[in-house]
Amino acid sequence: MRNRFAKLLGAAAVPTLALGLLALSPTMYRALAQDATAEATAAATSAPAAAGWTTYTDDMVDGKVILPARASALPESCPPPKPKDHYTIAMSQANKAEPWRTAMNQQLEAEAQAEGFDIVFADAAQDNAKQVSDIENFLTQGVDLLVVSPNEAAPLTDEINKVWNACIPVIVLDRNITNTDYSMFIGANNVAIGTSAGQYVAKWCKDNNLSPCNVLELRGLEGAPPAKDRGDGFRAGIADNPDVKIIASQNADWLREKAVPAADAMLSANENVNVIFGHNDPMAEGAYLAAQSAGRDLSKILFVGIDGLPSADGGIESVLQNRIGVTFVYPTGGKQAIQWAKRILTQDVVPPLWVELPFSSIDPSNAQDVCNTYACPDATTGGATEATPEATAAS
Ligand code: FRU
Repeated sequence: MRNRFAKLLGAAAVPTLALGLLALSPTMYRALAQDATAEATAAATSAPAAAGWTTYTDDMVDGKVILPARASALPESCPPPKPKDHYTIAMSQANKAEPWRTAMNQQLEAEAQAEGFDIVFADAAQDNAKQVSDIENFLTQGVDLLVVSPNEAAPLTDEINKVWNACIPVIVLDRNITNTDYSMFIGANNVAIGTSAGQYVAKWCKDNNLSPCNVLELRGLEGAPPAKDRGDGFRAGIADNPDVKIIASQNADWLREKAVPAADAMLSANENVNVIFGHNDPMAEGAYLAAQSAGRDLSKILFVGIDGLPSADGGIESVLQNRIGVTFVYPTGGKQAIQWAKRILTQDVVPPLWVELPFSSIDPSNAQDVCNTYACPDATTGGATEATPEATAAS
């Protein structure tokens, strides 16, 4: 199937294509990237590397290239990073208090340590202004590379661009900003995850002969792209079953403590509720608590989440313990970020502009296997059968 992205890339023989892509609006970028099929990705062509830089090779990519490499990882006027004895990577985290973000930080730290980099962290505690000043501090300190997972896109874009324009490589993780003035973006496809969640719900409602099948939605922070993407994807995923209806939707900013009252209010207003979709596992767990307090029959409601952490309070255990019915492993990208940082800083490699990480679903049919694979507390085998970054992060 040829889509818009593939058509655009049909012009890939033009050497300036990748730079030409920069003229697209962020919305177009997102639409194109979301449309990207394997065919389109295969057709993506990197720009020739500028003097002093080398373009990445396919074996470096742990995922799928959505946007190819530009001529360099920095603005054209910047030289490639100078060789040094010691590098300091800065990590600006949106909110360390959330379990998935703690796992991301742990993974970054472990990988940085393994590679011999110093890494310094700042926690914005879900405050955009604090995250701007955290990044400004890193700029003043003169760190070698910035990794950033933005709280919200628009308020962080200028500051992130400023670092990149100061010739410091920037890797944006998980939540994108509104332009591509950075070295690279690494994250999973939240539209696809939302669509998978919606399709699971559509089938579950059908299998249970529910007509109508009423859904409550707990949304993530509105200015964070994954919230919109997961919500949009979910709506596309349920479209095949007209019995599925989203009867109420509230924002709980990704937080379990906000999800409890939000779910409580929606449950009070709606007697017949069959599914609760939380944009992440903490909100799905908060909804479970609210439904429990409201005296609902919990065995009749499907709770849907996203994150699938292997920790004691994470999504894999929740599925094994019959609270969350389905969740999705949402990779943190911490390990990949450090590996790309190493290539950019020490080998002058130009990374792809956008790398998409894979995700997978967890429901009762595979939860024990996933638990064994990621060494979650209820693993029945002697530990991880596969050394995974997520498992390392949680252990
Ligand atoms: C943590 C978190 C995760 C979620 C991700 C989306 O802040 O809410 O639970 O999957 O951010 O960006």
